[in-house]
Amino acid sequence: MSVLIGSIPNDKKDDVKLAKKLSKINFYKKSTSLEELEAYFSEIFEDRSLFMFNRGRDSLYFLLKSLNIKREEEVIVQAFTCVATVSPILWVHARPVYVDIDKETYNMDISKLKEAITPKTRVIIVQHTFGNIADVYKVREIVDEINKKREEDKRISIIEDCCHLFYLTSQELEEKYVGIFSDAFFFSFAQDKAISCTQGSVCVVNNTKIFGKRKTEYANIPELSKEDAKYNAKYIVTWNKIRKWYFVKVLPFIKSDKFTIGKFLILYYRERGDIKKQADNNTIYYDGIHKLSYIQASLLLHQLDKLEDLNEHRIVIENIYNKGLKKQFQFKKEKGSVLLRYPIIVKNIEKIREALKKKKIIVGKWYSTPIFPLDYDELEKVNYKKGLCPNAESCGKKIINLPLSIDTTEEDAKNIVSIINKFAKQ
Ligand SMILES: Cc1ncc(COP(=O)(O)O)c(C=O)c1O
Repeated sequence: MSVLIGSIPNDKKDDVKLAKKLSKINFYKKSTSLEELEAYFSEIFEDRSLFMFNRGRDSLYFLLKSLNIKREEEVIVQAFTCVATVSPILWVHARPVYVDIDKETYNMDISKLKEAITPKTRVIIVQHTFGNIADVYKVREIVDEINKKREEDKRISIIEDCCHLFYLTSQELEEKYVGIFSDAFFFSFAQDKAISCTQGSVCVVNNTKIFGKRKTEYANIPELSKEDAKYNAKYIVTWNKIRKWYFVKVLPFIKSDKFTIGKFLILYYRERGDIKKQADNNTIYYDGIHKLSYIQASLLLHQLDKLEDLNEHRIVIENIYNKGLKKQFQFKKEKGSVLLRYPIIVKNIEKIREALKKKKIIVGKWYSTPIFPLDYDELEKVNYKKGLCPNAESCGKKIINLPLSIDTTEEDAKNIVSIINKFAKQ
């Protein structure tokens, strides 16, 4: 079977079976899945307030809105991120301010944070890129020092972007210092995340003094329409079909693999709205936020049962990369992190991608531009100017993300290692 890093990398036969069942339900059946999921999360996040949304960006918008940020106030975020992280900042009419990354970790370079903070800074978003745990404690120390001298309504809050990871227990979160030092944090369960229900998110508030209880506000957030809720199940069924045809040539006697049945299917299903890109140029425009639906909750509960296996598998594949790859391509993660993707820096990206494609492996390109997937000529729309964050830009030009998902077999990983060792130039 092929490995496609960005479509439904978590989904096995049992997930597809469940998705088929859920996509056929022809009435808005009431189910207990939402309550079950809430109970599940309440156990993990203990007595903290939590809110379940349709997407990670919905969670971030809800959190930013709760802070009453004024027009032109600033939100600091790292470059080398997804446009879906930056868009909620624009949606609340605040200004995104970018801090460069550390080339070794792909997380914010905290030594550059202080110089980015101004009297207008209200929030710092700390991202755990690829699941590599960022040093939120250091950010907390800096923020606490500054907040001592600020009026209450001008204080800086820390929001942790945990979209690239998920763990099963509060103990695990604590051991890895995830969700401990921030004022609020949020996860994404989008199609290419650690666990997935096609789209989905939960956000957790540590500091209700700042964010308030938000119960009424949350109650007033609309639910997804029946069709939009079902999209999440249909997407899994559709991609399962596409995946089988992804590498099958339309005309088998033609050498080029540009025209495959799978690629035509993608165009066809995109046109029908059965599958959507997770983020694109339009993401910068506010399109409404929604609560998580019971269909998403059912899909997610099923995935949560498998989380331990999914995370263990990531570590097995990561070890194959670490042991097999030449030293210069190995990634040194922060202790305890479970990576979502394995980043490597190579000069000849295209050659590697082509060689891997021949083995039916599609690797990722997070984040080939500083605010992915916006092209350089579109970055002004998100207040980014070329040259602002040189590390994010130079890494983006040379990065490949190797898969760690459950559909990557040990044999795939060994093939990947040998192709990289053979062809990659640093
Ligand atoms: C780092 C990061 N934060 C936030 C998001 C937004 O997640 P969602 O697609 O669920 O809105 C993404 C999406 O890929 C992401 O990569």
